[in-house]
Amino acid sequence: MSFGKILTLSSGAPLPQIGLGTWLSKPKEVENAVEIAVRNGYRHLDLAMIYQNQDEVGAALKKVIPSVVKREELFLTSKLWNSAHQPGEVEKELDETLKQLGVEYLDLYLVHWPVAFTPGKGLVPPHPTKKGEAELDLEISLVETWKAMIALPKSKVRNIGVSNFTIEHLEGIISATGVVPVANQIEAHPLLPQDDLVAYCKSKNIHITAYSPLGNNLIGEKKLTDEPVVEEIATRLGATTAQVLVAWGVYRGYSVIPKSVQESRIISNFKQVELSKEDYEKLSALGHGRHVRYNIPYRYDPVWDIALFGEPEEAKATHKVKIA
Ligand SMILES: NC(=O)c1ccc[n+]([C@@H]2O[C@H](COP(=O)([O-])OP(=O)(O)OC[C@H]3O[C@@H](n4cnc5c(N)ncnc54)[C@H](OP(=O)(O)O)[C@@H]3O)[C@@H](O)[C@H]2O)c1
Repeated sequence: MSFGKILTLSSGAPLPQIGLGTWLSKPKEVENAVEIAVRNGYRHLDLAMIYQNQDEVGAALKKVIPSVVKREELFLTSKLWNSAHQPGEVEKELDETLKQLGVEYLDLYLVHWPVAFTPGKGLVPPHPTKKGEAELDLEISLVETWKAMIALPKSKVRNIGVSNFTIEHLEGIISATGVVPVANQIEAHPLLPQDDLVAYCKSKNIHITAYSPLGNNLIGEKKLTDEPVVEEIATRLGATTAQVLVAWGVYRGYSVIPKSVQESRIISNFKQVELSKEDYEKLSALGHGRHVRYNIPYRYDPVWDIALFGEPEEAKATHKVKIA
């Protein structure tokens, strides 16, 4: 069985390039998906407290450790949720994640978003006065949270990183602490190449993990897997459209974490195909003059009334990220 290509993080840790995403994988689906994935060669799983399915992932891990894999052969990433950014909450939530997964340590722990929520009110607390808004904690800074991440014991977390951070957010935490995140997990696909952020991360040796590589479509755009140019390349290479999109991220050196709960897709998404320079450029051209970011929390329900990315959709947001 092939286990796919292995990349190396700045810490020296080996990272299997293709991982399984688990966001929106429903209860009763994700346990099965994780078991199928591991039995078919996946060694990298992308998880998070907010996906509210880590118990089920834990049940699947029990089925495959140690009969199919040893714990140390897996690369488990999970993420600190917004409602645990306060320094006193960070290790507590990590402990909860470890308990849900039934493991002693994570390979990578990420700050999920550069946004803090009020703790102790559930994962997405509603705003007390303005109905329909997530309740932000505007006092807590990214630097305070990052310091608490740095202080986590190595016995529980091998590597720390961030997700959805811009250059400004990264600069802020690095200049305040001197500790560079090992990875930044960001939305990345041909319609959102984020070249400046990618170049910055490269200069700091911050690994990029590409999320929503298939363009998980929550906003009514045409699915990337249905784009004619993706279909044309896939047909020519004898590949699936999803494999072609994963290959675009691989060409750029990312780790890529497509999500599926369907057995045949879980299996085929993991099989890497290689793109020629010409095909890579054809795919990249999809994003010339067309910029699509699927994941903007200002569009969420409940809305997060904060500007994160400088997107036009965020123009009316009231708040900014407190970096330091
Ligand atoms: N850090 C963050 O803030 C963040 C944000 C978003 C995502 N993520 C992570 O990244 C992972 C991947 O991103 P994503 O879930 O947003 O989107 P994605 O992996 O790009 O797309 C998932 C969608 O594509 C479908 N799909 C899967 N394989 C397919 C195939 N071969 N052909 C056609 N459709 C296919 C899936 O449906 P089926 O399940 O029915 O196959 C699902 O609807 C997430 O699961 C999560 O782990 C992180």
